[in-house]
Amino acid sequence: MKVKGRCHRFNVTTRMLLSRRLPGLFYKHRYLVYSCLIVLTTIVYLLFKWNIYCVNLQAWQHVKKMCHLYEKGLAVGSLCAPLCTTKDIHSLTCHSFQATKEAVFSAEWHNIRLVFKSVPKDTQAIHWYENGMIKYPTEKEFLSTIRTIVKNKLNLTVAYDTAVRLSRLKPSYEEKNKAKRQKEIDNIWFLLQDNEYLLSTLFTDKDVFPQLLGTCGQYYAVEYLEPVPDVSSVFSISDIKEDWGRKLRIAVQILDLLEELETGFREPFHLCDIKIQHFGFVKGSSRLKFIDLDGVLPRSVINSVMKRVQYCYSDNDCDFLDCRSRCNQETHKCSDTVANNNLQIVCEKIFLGWRMSNTVIVPGLLMSQHTPSDLATILRQCANPLSEPGKPRDVPEEEVKKRLYNVISEIEQSIDSDFFL
Ligand SMILES: *[C@@H]1O[C@H](CO)[C@@H](O)[C@H](O)[C@H]1NC(C)=O
Repeated sequence: MKVKGRCHRFNVTTRMLLSRRLPGLFYKHRYLVYSCLIVLTTIVYLLFKWNIYCVNLQAWQHVKKMCHLYEKGLAVGSLCAPLCTTKDIHSLTCHSFQATKEAVFSAEWHNIRLVFKSVPKDTQAIHWYENGMIKYPTEKEFLSTIRTIVKNKLNLTVAYDTAVRLSRLKPSYEEKNKAKRQKEIDNIWFLLQDNEYLLSTLFTDKDVFPQLLGTCGQYYAVEYLEPVPDVSSVFSISDIKEDWGRKLRIAVQILDLLEELETGFREPFHLCDIKIQHFGFVKGSSRLKFIDLDGVLPRSVINSVMKRVQYCYSDNDCDFLDCRSRCNQETHKCSDTVANNNLQIVCEKIFLGWRMSNTVIVPGLLMSQHTPSDLATILRQCANPLSEPGKPRDVPEEEVKKRLYNVISEIEQSIDSDFFL
């Protein structure tokens, strides 16, 4: 009893002491506490700002903004009414997979999943004022403006019919009401500044970019693509043969997609921001597409991006995300041709994995216990054709490309036949 009493008393006094001292402790270390709070707030702020983290509330705020402009007659487009009036579009979910865009969220519309995206905000409006009167370009001027945009952004000369299609929100409908047409022009002008919108509207016949489903004001929606299943062998618990077969199939599909980007257009397209999260499957099919089109540009445009670098000290100054060129140490200018290509980046970042110096730290899609040594050798040649220290800057040889494709397809087929035995 005695002991217990003393113990109790001790507890009380310690508690009293602590509660008296806590504000003092806080005061004594106040700068440390303030710094911690500031660091914490900054981290949380950056997580949201860089779209590493998002909450559905943000998606609702974008819809609210869209609908507010729609009610004022400033936002037009096929998705405004289902979003704002009939409310057929629902189940908003935010997505943080595309750091370059301010808004990315998905929603449901009659069992179709849409992904909404916003266009860059730093564009000036197309209309102007003269003596207080609002002025718009004529239809003819608007068409020639559109052709200039496409020429500047994609180095592509579009046919008259294509320009007409791009000048309307509904391709086969000509808005006759002058006030409504002006709002349509305002909206289209902003949409066309967006590389992603431009590629999705221009190349509807090519099945490599997400399909455009509609617009509302400065937002547009494309088809939702299913993410590639979690493929990193570090995070997947099992490394069974079946998973290995699935990974090989995905690899073949990625190679097929790269081939289409290389040969299916007037000029090859370069994917300058390659991540496994930027590939996605069309729902209910095995069709693979590339999702994040902000860094997707034709070769001649990438080359002029490199040429525009004013002054370089090292090769790293000549990088546009994953698209790399070299720095000429005498002229301090970047080489005006991109040095690597899609296949090199895919081998480096997707197939091999994340490396530091020459050690694979996070194994990629094709690095597992099942990887035969000849495949590993080809992958290393593909990822770093010149065995350079630092970031590789070269194109894998045609021979390496063929062997890679053949080896992957062969292993995949042998696994498939194992299952049927
Ligand atoms: C645009 O493409 C043409 C034809 O491929 C090419 O000759 C020209 O140099 C390119 N222009 C620019 C600015 O890259």
